[in-house]
Amino acid sequence: MKALVIDEFGGADKLHWAELPTPVPGAGEVLIKLAATSVNPVEWKIREGYLAKAFPHRFPLILGWDAAGTVASLGEGVTGFRPGDAVYAYCRKPEIQWGTYAEYVTMPAEAVAAAPRNLPLEAAAALPLVGLTSWQVLFEAAGLRAGQTALIHAGAGGIGSLAIQLAKVRGARVLTTARAENHDYVRSLGADEAIDYVAEPFAGAVRRLAPEGVDVVFDAVGGQTQADSWPVVQKGGILVSIVDRPDQSLAEKLGVRAAYVFVAPNGGQLRELAALVEAGKVKAPAYEVLALGEAAQAQERNRARHVRGKIVLTIG
Ligand SMILES: NC(=O)c1ccc[n+]([C@@H]2O[C@H](COP(=O)([O-])OP(=O)(O)OC[C@H]3O[C@@H](n4cnc5c(N)ncnc54)[C@H](OP(=O)(O)O)[C@@H]3O)[C@@H](O)[C@H]2O)c1
Repeated sequence: MKALVIDEFGGADKLHWAELPTPVPGAGEVLIKLAATSVNPVEWKIREGYLAKAFPHRFPLILGWDAAGTVASLGEGVTGFRPGDAVYAYCRKPEIQWGTYAEYVTMPAEAVAAAPRNLPLEAAAALPLVGLTSWQVLFEAAGLRAGQTALIHAGAGGIGSLAIQLAKVRGARVLTTARAENHDYVRSLGADEAIDYVAEPFAGAVRRLAPEGVDVVFDAVGGQTQADSWPVVQKGGILVSIVDRPDQSLAEKLGVRAAYVFVAPNGGQLRELAALVEAGKVKAPAYEVLALGEAAQAQERNRARHVRGKIVLTIG
């Protein structure tokens, strides 16, 4: 099969085409013929070696963790799928090597789900990683409940696009940070309040909009944004970051909770997400479509941190 690989850590120029054996699904695995993947910041981070201490890496290494395509074949013992079924998956494995910038990928069946029937596969490819991350942050780590207030940072990004919608599905009030040019977009996703973090420090705006503080901060930015978020979490509330591990002793001192989430594959949650999409309660993020061969350019744009929604890469 054709795949875009890197043979060593480095810049986007390290990406090149390679011909590799088409993977064979092992027991319990599904072989997916990819129609599309989508770009996430983790790809340039892996490419540059930032995750080298967190996971074993092997070269040649195929980047990419989002998959949408059709079932090509099934390993021994897999039930519930048939060849030709449209599926989507978040394809992180214990070792980083066989990703989704390729014609085929294998994944344990429990991580794979039927793609939403009302979306083209290229839109489905924009969903798994950001959908599962938002699900696991809001519903698992934060335990978000109806009537609570959530501050979602970077509402216009891939994560924000799903997090805003899932928080609204849960019945929360949503405040989100975004540049002014993205306010119509984040409102179209359901955000109740859009805060222009460029025009003023966001914490002041949050205090005006939610004087008692918020129940949940979803930190998809880290650094100074996380540091400035602590004062707006109300007592007993929670700050969940997916970027920088929050300081637990600071959280304790402030009387709030804090957590860090690294998204895990989960086919069951992808099935629930697909049901929400099919019911019209969640839509795909805004996305731009490029070809897989344009991945280097797509990663550079993603690295600059102002893509609205997602960049999808079509395959084949
Ligand atoms: N731990 C995990 O499991 C996990 C999972 C997924 C992602 N992540 C991490 O989470 C972060 C976000 O991921 P993503 O996929 O959403 O990235 P993304 O789509 O590239 O985010 C881009 C968005 O961030 C917004 N933004 C940039 N700086 C901002 C700031 N200071 N305040 C508010 N918004 C800002 C931009 O909106 P404006 O143009 O309006 O500023 C842009 O739309 C990345 O660091 C990623 O690696 C971690």
